[in-house]
Amino acid sequence: MVRSPCVSVGRERAERVRRELLRAGLLRTDLRPRREGERVLFPVTDPGALGGLLGDLGAELTWSEFEEVPRRPRSLREAVEGIPEELLNEVPSSFDVVGDIAVIHIPPALEPYAAELGRAVLKMSPSIRVVLGEAGPVSGEFRTREYVHLAGERRTHTVHRENGCVFEVDLARAYFSPRLSGERSRVVSMVREGERVLDMFSGVGPFAIQIARHRGVPVTAVELNPDAYRFLVRNVALNRVERLVEAVNEDARRVAASRPSAYDRVIMNHPSASLEFLREAMIAAREGATLHVYGFASSVADWEWKVRSRLEELGRVPSGLTVRKVREVSASRIIAVADVTL
Ligand SMILES: C[S@@+](CC[C@H](N)C(=O)[O-])C[C@H]1O[C@@H](n2cnc3c(N)ncnc32)[C@H](O)[C@@H]1O
Repeated sequence: MVRSPCVSVGRERAERVRRELLRAGLLRTDLRPRREGERVLFPVTDPGALGGLLGDLGAELTWSEFEEVPRRPRSLREAVEGIPEELLNEVPSSFDVVGDIAVIHIPPALEPYAAELGRAVLKMSPSIRVVLGEAGPVSGEFRTREYVHLAGERRTHTVHRENGCVFEVDLARAYFSPRLSGERSRVVSMVREGERVLDMFSGVGPFAIQIARHRGVPVTAVELNPDAYRFLVRNVALNRVERLVEAVNEDARRVAASRPSAYDRVIMNHPSASLEFLREAMIAAREGATLHVYGFASSVADWEWKVRSRLEELGRVPSGLTVRKVREVSASRIIAVADVTL
């Protein structure tokens, strides 16, 4: 209990006084107001500043004991319990949130304390229901990852909201990263009326669906992973863009090669393999089209060099090429995107 100056007021006027004190910035929010018979006591920060407030509302100034309001920890380091002092600086400063699932990277030194990390995430974030730990890298053709359950409910399925759209996803079965949300907005904002768009590696549909929904243009979304494709179809329906999005469960190489000059914009969000699909992407793109080519690189200049070299191999000189960093993957690796105009 904490002793504090407070305003005592009859119950019938309590709500009005609470609002006045809040508005004046005088209510202590770290202490819980309490009832005493027919009166309510509000702890205040600066009794000298109350001025005319008391008399006007029939309230009086006094002192009393109050219970502290438990404060929600603001960082994982603050929330975590049971981790030795010398390992505290290994505690990650952030985690990804997909729907109501938190995904956390567990540094090797903290593996024995993974459950403590999970509990700390739940303590910090009331909207999180599941905490998963990364149990390996994103890998394989379908770019999925293994997870370990750390805390909360036992599931990997959730519904995520991004830029006004909803996406159902099962993280153990299909790729999805909330970290690309800004990049998706950038691409959506570049799409112009009348365009036809090909999303060669659509996953559960975040690029394709946001483009259809916000730009109203037709999009072909290609995805090879049958599980991701199932979510893509579901998300197309959830976002009511069935008339604009054609979902295809096939190899993007075959789809692109079979539709010559059909598209004004081609999205190649497959950083570990996009350059292997560039020949077919150029078949599907009409003259003057834009390709967004994503890749892992050591720097922006490194990705520009890789894209230019591949274009040269394919005998193509682009009319425009700009490269930017999308995000850092590690200290020495980034994901970059080249916007190539043919
Ligand atoms: C990095 S993920 C990108 C997903 C999506 N663009 C997003 O923003 O969430 C790459 C996707 O390409 C899919 N993929 C891999 N090879 C493919 C191919 N040959 N044809 C079509 N999709 C493919 C994977 O299954 C995976 O879902």
